[in-house]
Amino acid sequence: MNYRYNIFEINYKKLNLQRIKLTKIRKDMEEKNQVEKKVILSGIQPSGKLHIGHLTGAIKNWVKLQQEYECFYTIVDLHAITVKQNPAELRRRTLETAALFIACGVNPEISTLFIQSFVPEHTQLAWVLNCFTGMGECSRMTQFKDKSAAHSENINIGLFSYPVLMAADILLYQTDLVPVGEDQKQHLELTRNLAQRFNFHYSDTFKIPEPYIEKVGARVMSLQEPSKKMSKSDDNDKATIFLSDTDEEIKSKIKRAVTDSDSVVKMSNEKMGISNLMTLYHIAKNMSFDDIEKEFAGKGYGVFKSAVADAVADYIRPVREKYLDLMNNKKYLEELLTAGAEKARKRAFKTLRKVYKKIGFVQF
Ligand code: TYM
Repeated sequence: MNYRYNIFEINYKKLNLQRIKLTKIRKDMEEKNQVEKKVILSGIQPSGKLHIGHLTGAIKNWVKLQQEYECFYTIVDLHAITVKQNPAELRRRTLETAALFIACGVNPEISTLFIQSFVPEHTQLAWVLNCFTGMGECSRMTQFKDKSAAHSENINIGLFSYPVLMAADILLYQTDLVPVGEDQKQHLELTRNLAQRFNFHYSDTFKIPEPYIEKVGARVMSLQEPSKKMSKSDDNDKATIFLSDTDEEIKSKIKRAVTDSDSVVKMSNEKMGISNLMTLYHIAKNMSFDDIEKEFAGKGYGVFKSAVADAVADYIRPVREKYLDLMNNKKYLEELLTAGAEKARKRAFKTLRKVYKKIGFVQF
């Protein structure tokens, strides 16, 4: 009896030890995964109402990648003031933008959402990086050229060094991947150059980030001038589908979209208006371009535009409804953004401290 009891006890102890060991291994692996999750940072300016291009070019990918990566998504209000802003509108749009991030599917429980101006490390690192950026590099930026042409009465230094602040946003978080639309590619190249330059001068400090730009949806065009990018600051309201538009507004804008005098529904560089509508249909219906061409062969633009109008209205409706719901709960948004900023600051401070040390700032 005794003998059997002892055997049982030994086995039991062994089993228990194994269980403890396994739990520890699992915990270690979980922690390692947490630490080693690659980082994403991306942002949007609260300088106007968000439109469907923001969703297809950026936010859709933020949502897609948020499980796999550790994500920081920011509302870049410091960037927005490079163009004159009405203070009350800027305040309102900052919260609206946060609500739209969530309405589009960003999960605030797993992704960190914050307002850029809550994290002073962004401007602190931007200053340092300014001192490593050539005037020529900033003056070559297409966005600077476009914006200074559009706002010739206010070509300020902030507008000029805007891409350096963007580089600081990204580099502060040791970011691996930056999901953006096509228009941000040049800014990403500058970010990479600045990181490499700094790392070369001192020693490895910044991760070199990669852009993440999808083939389709990274450049949605204006509905009224399909050779131009859809933009929140377009004077013509009919050119842009806003995420807060009603079904009727969306349908009316799509039905009035500028196309060409042909009647063939086909992807082509010569048919920018139709190709743009096909892109929207492709995203809204998750349908291949070949299938779209087949579905509308011989049917003409009227039928096609009606189908796109319905599909896009169906696609945007749940976003708008969730957005309106969230805007009734500003306290929730404020709490979430406060917590997000706290988390972001902790991470940003680590990098900034490293940078300050390397460049020779005294630290006590
Ligand atoms: P912003 O605010 O102009 O646009 C936000 C994101 O939306 C994409 N986008 C589009 N995508 C497809 N079609 C369009 N018509 C369209 N319009 C805009 C943009 O490419 C962008 O991804 N500089 C940035 C904001 C920024 C940022 C950052 C981005 C500041 N710091 C750090 C990434 C990482 C900007 O002006 O985006």
